[in-house]
Parts: sequence; structure tokens; C-alpha cells
Amino acid sequence: MKAADLIINPSTTFKEKPDPKGLVFGTVFSDNMLFIEWSVDSGWEKPQIKPLENLSVHPAISAFHYAVEPRGLTEAKLLHMLWLNEYTLFEGMKAYRGVDGKIRLFRPSLNMDRMLRSAIRATLPGFDKEELLECIRKLVEVEKEWVPYSTSASLYIRPTLIGTEPSLGVKKPSRALLYVILSPVGPYFATGTFNPISLWADPKYVRAWKGGTGDCKLGGNYGSSIYAQREAMELGCQQVLWLYGEDHQITEVGTMNLFLHWRNEDGEEELATPPLDGIILPGVTRQSILDLAHKWGEFKVSERYITMSDLIAALKDRRVKEMFGAGTACVVCPISTILYMGEHLHIPTMENGPQIASRFLKQLTDIQYGREDSEWTVMVS
Ligand SMILES: Cc1ncc(COP(=O)(O)O)c(C=O)c1O
Repeated sequence: MKAADLIINPSTTFKEKPDPKGLVFGTVFSDNMLFIEWSVDSGWEKPQIKPLENLSVHPAISAFHYAVEPRGLTEAKLLHMLWLNEYTLFEGMKAYRGVDGKIRLFRPSLNMDRMLRSAIRATLPGFDKEELLECIRKLVEVEKEWVPYSTSASLYIRPTLIGTEPSLGVKKPSRALLYVILSPVGPYFATGTFNPISLWADPKYVRAWKGGTGDCKLGGNYGSSIYAQREAMELGCQQVLWLYGEDHQITEVGTMNLFLHWRNEDGEEELATPPLDGIILPGVTRQSILDLAHKWGEFKVSERYITMSDLIAALKDRRVKEMFGAGTACVVCPISTILYMGEHLHIPTMENGPQIASRFLKQLTDIQYGREDSEWTVMVS
């Protein structure tokens, strides 16, 4: 795969660009896509930028059969799912139009690293991360008018890699397709202020397990989470707080990494997030928050286990300051309540500012929108 081989034949018709304020996430797409086919015999074909169009694929392709399987996981089902390979993976990143009018990507090499790790885990073909990033950069350049003229909206970039061998065998696919589509997205917090979210924590569902694929962005991880998300909403909560193990370790929230700012058991001020032990997705935002917090050097920063009983004890002792989710979609998302074992636990995030969450939001968005210079951004134009 070589960006220098890119064949660029963009659309000659242009769709109307929507007002980002009214956009529903992931429903509007730009005019063009990046399209790269792979086969075991020929390797990667020349990458193409071409008009966005429907895919024409055989109904037997592996991506259709061994990826999204929405259901609650019992142990038997879990083993079954472990056995199945998952032939669909994706990434999620954004292009931002800065205050200087320039378009930037935010730490995109971390997305490329993660995508390659996912590809290896899914037995899909590997690729040159720098060449793919350059192809994506070129696609965004071609589609630059689709990057919203707003410092509260952005252009969501969705690289996808699927197995396309027309065969029902559960095996490493001999054909694959990598494509990238673009979707303008509006402000996550429409009012410009934080809206805290309520969570439902129940150990009966698990998002990921040791030895599984939770640390990769495979389609199957997400399909199987929708059932629990629906139950959370039926119980009046907005997202699932995913627990793990007999001791109900706190792992992630919805599709975000989780942070707790508190006074820990030893009385130290600490920013804590669960460690990357195989069941946590290594988020780009998570890494960036850890890097910033280390740089600030104002409190202890830990990648450590936190259980529900640790959290309940800290809430009783009034040691919890803030709890928030972190991800590309909203940057940071404050948490106000957790429904656990029939009890609504109040998290005093909003009462405490949220000082730390707002500070991360400000610094990260300052970098993304070019208000602060940083080595973390890659210029598109
Ligand atoms: C399960 C999960 N955790 C965390 C994240 C946050 O990752 P990032 O900061 O790279 O968007 C995502 C989003 O991709 C996710 O799907």
C-alpha cells in the first residue's frame, strides 16, 4: 500500500453540506471514499479515492457472518464467540478546522497503531501505517469543504477493514477491503456546557474478557454491547458502566474510557484509570489525558484497578471529586449517577466543577482547534 500510487477520481457532483448543529451522529457522509482492496495473491491494490458508493460483495463474505452478534453473553456463548474470528474492524478519529482555518488531525498515528493491532487480532492483513495515514490525509484534503467551519464540530473519519472472501469457512480471509468514509459531526454538548450522564452497572453483562478482543476495535465487541445498552436505557440510565470479575472492577463506560479523580485510600489526590490489561480499549483520549496529567505534575496519576466497593467506600468518606468518560466523540463526559445493585449512587462530579474534566476538555480542544500549538496535531492543509 503506497500513498504515492493513489488514484484520485473524485465525484463531479457535490452534495449539499449540512448545518452541523442539527446533525445526528454518523448519518451524513461526504462525497468520496478511500477504497483499497487486498488479496493473499496480489497483496494491496493501488489505493483509490472515488465517489462514495454502495459496496457490491458476495453474501458469503466473512464480515457478514462472523462479526456483529447482538446478545447477552453467558459463559457458553462467550466460548462460542471466542472461537469465532471477527472479520470487521474499524477506527474512529476526527479532522478539525482550527481558528486559523487550517485542518488538523489529532494524534492519528495512535489510531493507525490501534488499527494495525486490531487487524492482526482479526487475522486481517497488515498494512503500512504511515502510508495508510497519508492516504487518509489526502482523502480529507480532497474533502476539505466537508470539515465544518466551526470550532465545536468536526469531520468524523471512519476507517474500516473487512474480510471479503466469499466463503463460509471460519479461517483467515484470503481477501479483504479497507475503506474510509467521512461524516461531519456536530457539537457533542449542544449547549456548550457539560451534560452529566447516568450509568447502569450490572455484572451480568461483560463487554470484554481476558484473552478476548476488548482491547481491539472489532465490530463484534460493539454488536454484543447493544443489548445491555438497551437495558440500561429501559432502567432510565444513559450508558452502561462495564464491570468485570468477581470483585466488580470498573472498566469502561459505554464506548469511553473511565477516569476517577479522588482522594485514594492512602489520602493522596489521584487521577486513576483502569490499566491496559487486555479488557480495556487503549483510547487516544485516555492516553492524551494521562500524558497531560503527567505533564501538569499536580497529583498522582495511576493506571490501577478500581472496584465498585472501592468507589462506594470513597463516596461514603466523601473522597470522590470527579468521574468522567473519555473518548473522541465528546472528549470528556462527566458522570453524575450510577445505578448499582438497585441503589442510585450520586457522584459529585458537577458539584466539584467539574474542575479537572473541564481543564482536560479545554486543553485538548485548544490543541485540536489550533488555539494551542502541539506536536500532537498533523496538518491536512
Ligand atoms: C470501547 C471504547 N473505549 C474507549 C474509547 C475511546 O477511544 P478514543 O479516545 O480513541 O476515541 C472508544 C472509542 O473508540 C471505545 O469504543
